[in-house]
This record gives sequence, C-alpha cells and structure tokens, in this order.
Amino acid sequence: MSSISLTGVSKTFPRPDGTPLDVLDGVSFDAPDGSFSAILGPSGCGKSTILALIAGLDQPTSGSIRVGGRPLSGAAPRIGLVFQRPRLLQWRRVSENVTLPLERECGREERQDRARRYLDLVGLDGYADYYPAQLSGGMQQRAAIARALAIEPDILLMDEPFSGLDEMTARKMRQELIRIWRETGKTIVFVTHSIGEAVFLSEQVLMIGHKPAAVRKRAAIDLDYPREYGDPAMFEIETGLTREFLAMTG
Ligand SMILES: Nc1ncnc2c1ncn2[C@@H]1O[C@H](COP(=O)(O)OP(=O)(O)OP(=O)(O)O)[C@@H](O)[C@H]1O
Ligand SMILES: [Mg+2]
Repeated sequence: MSSISLTGVSKTFPRPDGTPLDVLDGVSFDAPDGSFSAILGPSGCGKSTILALIAGLDQPTSGSIRVGGRPLSGAAPRIGLVFQRPRLLQWRRVSENVTLPLERECGREERQDRARRYLDLVGLDGYADYYPAQLSGGMQQRAAIARALAIEPDILLMDEPFSGLDEMTARKMRQELIRIWRETGKTIVFVTHSIGEAVFLSEQVLMIGHKPAAVRKRAAIDLDYPREYGDPAMFEIETGLTREFLAMTG
C-alpha cells in the first residue's frame, strides 16, 4: 500500500537572522494508492518542502504524514525522488549514477540491465558512459529521472522534472510517465508551475496558496487516459483553473 496522507502539516524554518519563517501552515491532502496528484503553486510557496517532508528528508514542525497508512518515522519507505536539480555525482558515469541506489540490492548484471532499460526510456541510450558534465542540463535531468525509476519505487515524487526540457521532449516524457504510471500503478506526486502540465498528467490538482502555504483548492481532473494534447475538454479545465489560480495568487 502506497497511499500518502498529510494532515495539518506545518513547517517553520529559521531565517538567516534567526527569526522563524512559517512556510507551511496546515497542509492536508490525500493521495490514494496508485493515484497521480499534481501540486501547483507559485515560486517559493513551499512545494519542494512538501516533497522533502514526504520523502522523510526533513520533519514537519507539526502535523502528521502517513505513507501506506503508517506514520512516517525511522526508515524511509521505498520512494523515488526526482529533485528540482539533477544532483548527479560528477565523478561517476551516467550509468553508474543511475544504478547507485541499487548497489546493495542488485548484482552487476541486473544493474547494467536496469541502467540500459531506464536510460533508453528517457532517451539517453548511447550516453551511459558519459560523465554528467558532458551532458546538457536537460539530459542530466533525464538521467536523474532514470535514476529515480531504476529503483522501481511504489511512490514517485517529482519536483518540476520537465521544466528544463524543450516542449517536444517534455511532451514525450509526460506521455512516457503516464504510460509507466498506468503500467505499474505507482503513486505519483508531481510538482509543477504549469497548469497545463498539471491538467494533462494528474487525477487531482492541489493548488497551494502561499505565505504560509496550505492547499487552497483540490480539483479532480475527470478525463480518461491517455490524454491528448489539444483536447478541448482539457483546455476548458485548464482555462478554469488558470482563472482560479490567478485569483488566488494575484
Ligand atoms: N532549509 C531551509 N532553510 C530555510 N528556509 C528554507 C529551507 N528550505 C526552504 N526554505 C524556505 O521555504 C520557502 C519555500 O521553499 P520551497 O523550496 O519549498 O519553495 P517552492 O514552492 O519549491 O519554490 P520553487 O517553485 O521556486 O521551486 C522559501 O521561502 C525558502 O526560502
Ligand atoms: Mg521548488
């Protein structure tokens, strides 16, 4: 079971002068097992902070996070995380970056097989032996996506993973992501600035308002998959959400 549930999650960080900055204030939402949720919000509102808390990289100041019905504490569950920046190890080849999280659990052959499979999937076949600095920014980001997928996690947290890609590559990656999600039944939480991307991908859009952040609106996107670019129904939902989003953040 890989549901995610946040109840009244707040997070306060110290400012450089030591005074507290309330970033999250009572963030609550449910992402059922196998669901696809998008978190949409303006820059600096706390989206990456929410993902870091779910991943167990940091603890909330108050409130509770449950993953698979259990409180998040101690050993982190099996979660794949795509950070906002690629965070590859510069001294390791691309394939070794992808298989790094697998070194304890898989033999050499299995690791090579997974590196090949997931690098292929993100369109980086032929780049396994490159070092990260020899790739473009978007290619590095795709390598980071391959690394997150290679552990074959039940939960995938993605922080604006396609924002550095050209639109055609981003479209292809979104379609691939939907295919993987439908084939594997992962629970996915996807952070984005793009309303169109949120509507294309997700079953629910969680709109975050800021200072401090909370979920201001949950919109269910009731359209069948796979979705088509240019679908008028999708465009209509996007236009409605854009209006609400502007009213919320303006
Ligand atoms: N470790 C930290 N220490 C202090 N402040 C932090 C820390 N991490 C985040 N913050 C603050 O929390 C707020 C939210 O940051 P966060 O990175 O979650 O925003 P975001 O919604 O992901 O923004 P963007 O869309 O630009 O990526 C910002 O004001 C940031 O300065
Ligand atoms: Mg962020």
